[in-house]
Amino acid sequence: MSKKITKICCIGAGYVGGPTMSIIAKKCPEIWVTVVDINKERIDQWNNANLDNLPIYEPGLKEVVGETRGKNLFFSTEVDRAIDEAEMIFISVNTPTKTYGKGKGQAADLKYIELCARNIAKIAKNNKIVVEKSTLPVRTAAAIKSILDNNGNGVHFEILSNPEFLAEGTAITDLLHADRVLIGGEDTPTGREAKDALSKIYEHWLPKERILQTNVWSSELSKLVANAFLAQRVSSINSISALCEKTDANIEEVSKAIGFDSRIGPKFLNASVGFGGSCFQKDILNLVYIARTFGLQEVADYWEQVIILNDYQKRRFADNMITTLYNTVSGKKIVVYGWAFKKDTNDTRESAAIYVVDALLEENAEIVVYDPQVSEKKIYADLDYLNTRSPAENRRLLKVGDKPIEITKDAHAIAILTEWDEFKAFNWQVIYKNMLKPAFVFDGRRLLTTGSMEEIGFKYYKIGQK
Ligand code: UDX
Ligand code: UDX
Repeated sequence: MSKKITKICCIGAGYVGGPTMSIIAKKCPEIWVTVVDINKERIDQWNNANLDNLPIYEPGLKEVVGETRGKNLFFSTEVDRAIDEAEMIFISVNTPTKTYGKGKGQAADLKYIELCARNIAKIAKNNKIVVEKSTLPVRTAAAIKSILDNNGNGVHFEILSNPEFLAEGTAITDLLHADRVLIGGEDTPTGREAKDALSKIYEHWLPKERILQTNVWSSELSKLVANAFLAQRVSSINSISALCEKTDANIEEVSKAIGFDSRIGPKFLNASVGFGGSCFQKDILNLVYIARTFGLQEVADYWEQVIILNDYQKRRFADNMITTLYNTVSGKKIVVYGWAFKKDTNDTRESAAIYVVDALLEENAEIVVYDPQVSEKKIYADLDYLNTRSPAENRRLLKVGDKPIEITKDAHAIAILTEWDEFKAFNWQVIYKNMLKPAFVFDGRRLLTTGSMEEIGFKYYKIGQK
């Protein structure tokens, strides 16, 4: 097994693979990094001469890609060739929640991972280190190893788990200043050698003490647990936001008061319309599924509650809008600001906006959406995917606008569902004039100030406050 890595391949040019490999290429100029994907359109976007057309939006990403692309960073659809040439292969393909069969709605669908493993086994003609980067249920490394060992050409495969902890919108900073890097592998001579080889890559820019080596189980489970704990904080604070809305307590004051306790800490205590993103829900569902598989019913129920509370928060927000708008939104124009699951990303997976809007459309509201980064195509695709009504109905009831102020003309209400900074800078006085009266604003992100909104004349509802 080669100790010094000179060629890396990453399968999956998505939100994880793209930024992670760009940073490795930037920090390790002597390593050739090839990112491959079966989706040609995506690869073409990564190779687009205009860096504004990269397939994902991440602050700072285009600069890094501009610096490294064509030098030691390459994007290609030639999957087999890249596998053949690389000494280390990262698997960074998507692992959606199963929509069929056993574990439907809970377990991760590993079919893409398995396809990748089988393909690597078929192609590899010399020893490889295979790194699972995708978040996966515990024990996937063992499954990958079994597939590789039983189908390979007699070469040696070492499997590592190296979960990603970057958050979208801050991916580049998170990668450059990672709190820690986790590398799980076997405690054998070749396993240790592989862990050291991967560690050396990260040591190009991170202090060694922040690179933790563990066994595979611990690494895989730690990723799920880290996300479960983070999501649990959001659900915890959101549960209290509901209580604040019934009392005179203010969620911001409560968050601040408890966050000052150094054992609790101030981060991840922002009440919201609900967490979204590709990881939180899926990872908790995985955790729940594993616990159930081992007969740990109470453990499974405990974590499932984090998701139940999150669904409640989204439904509660939509219900409150309907009740406040005199119990009917039928035929009423409602402007939605924000579709992404958080600011500074064009990712919409599991975004709260999808579910809030779906509930409003069920009541025949007429929705106009504005999001600075999400395309019209994506918005319709997200709604169509729910299958609540026909695609034609979705297009009849919902429009997408690119002029955020103009679209408020004759609107009954505005819902703020993503915390984009630009919404704060809008001329809310003009918006107020545009709208029908009373003009309602439902702020699911606590983005604006109650005093100034009420001064303008708005009926302003802020999550977590009466
Ligand atoms: C991430 C993480 O890797 C995963 O852990 C998490 O659970 C879900 O999201 P992400 O990079 O955000 O993945 O996903 P996505 O943007 O969908 O990218 C995955 C890419 O893999 C896609 O571009 C897809 O075309 C590609 N892919 C998928 C392959 O190249 N080959 C396959 O067999 C399957
Ligand atoms: C998360 C983890 O943070 C990251 O470590 C992991 O690798 C992938 O999953 P991500 O989903 O990209 O990252 O974003 P994150 O910043 O964690 O936000 C997740 C969701 O929680 C967003 O919808 C966000 O708006 C919401 N959130 C977060 C809150 O509602 N309140 C908070 O205080 C923090």
